[in-house]
Amino acid sequence: MITTVQQYLDKGLRGLWYPVLASWEVQSAPVGITRLGEQIVIWRNKDGQLQALEDRCPHRGARLSMGWNLGDRIACWYHGVEVAGNGEVKDVPAVDKCPLVGQQCVRSYSVQEAHGAIFLWFGVTAEQQPEALVFPTELADGEAYSNFLCTAAWQCNYQYALENVMDPMHGTYLHSSSHSMAEGDRKADMVLQPTDTGFIFEKKGQSGINFDWVELGNSGACWMRLSIPYKKRFGPGGHFFIVGMVVPEDNDNCRVFFWRIRRVQGWQRAMWRFMYRNHLEKLHWDVLEQDRVVLESMAPDARDHEYLYQHDVGLSRLRRMMQKAAKEQLAMREEQQGAA
Ligand code: FES
Ligand SMILES: [Fe+2]
Repeated sequence: MITTVQQYLDKGLRGLWYPVLASWEVQSAPVGITRLGEQIVIWRNKDGQLQALEDRCPHRGARLSMGWNLGDRIACWYHGVEVAGNGEVKDVPAVDKCPLVGQQCVRSYSVQEAHGAIFLWFGVTAEQQPEALVFPTELADGEAYSNFLCTAAWQCNYQYALENVMDPMHGTYLHSSSHSMAEGDRKADMVLQPTDTGFIFEKKGQSGINFDWVELGNSGACWMRLSIPYKKRFGPGGHFFIVGMVVPEDNDNCRVFFWRIRRVQGWQRAMWRFMYRNHLEKLHWDVLEQDRVVLESMAPDARDHEYLYQHDVGLSRLRRMMQKAAKEQLAMREEQQGAA
């Protein structure tokens, strides 16, 4: 039973769409995952459309993800109960006229697939309808921009992954040997600026040199955006953009999604995509590994014993925003329980 605001936050804020897997990770076989502490099964029906259900057979609780994809439904491995994508039991092959048939007994999730990823809606309450999901321009405008998605599982609470991106100063230190982040001041004043969907956090008087600004936004999903100026030899397209999202798995694990983006059209697009696959992707994985290694080995309960300084106002703001949202969501849940 969740009691405190921090315990609620550790599981993940709700009222949001989250990317849960890359599209290529779900083919016809059912896939079982844990996200926001919930066990979920995802599969594609015979038209290739995604279905997502609570990963729990209504009969005795076996994991449906261990079962069979029958196209419009999934069959439990244990005794063969068949459940449709909307959570309705379609057949109980072991008995005639079973009263379970026709009942809606498994929770289903709203799903959408976009920009190479699978998104699920996690409502604050079971009744909360999904909000519209609006992507940052660099993803939404596929004509002007081109992207590669990379995703990885990290063994740390998702808040560390969020806070890491909202901390642009780590780039000049942690990634000082990397191809793209070796420049820029190793000291800087940081300033915050509100936006319509969140805020921008940047190095004062230093823009266009390194990883020197980062934005947090919420437009149906929570995302982060930053840009890194690139030298000509890394191909066409001006700044290199990154849009990042993080989904909690459980208290100690999360999944990160980073779209690497450049503004490229025509032959430049083809050239960049070729260069990226053959050369840049490996360099970016190296940078991401530096983040992972540091975050996975943080002191136990690191967030409880910190001495924050001026560079950390971005993450302090982020924490305040999240605490506020968590309080509101807990209140919504209590209200709903009271009404029930
Ligand atoms: S537990 Fe699934 S059919 Fe029995
Ligand atoms: Fe980093």
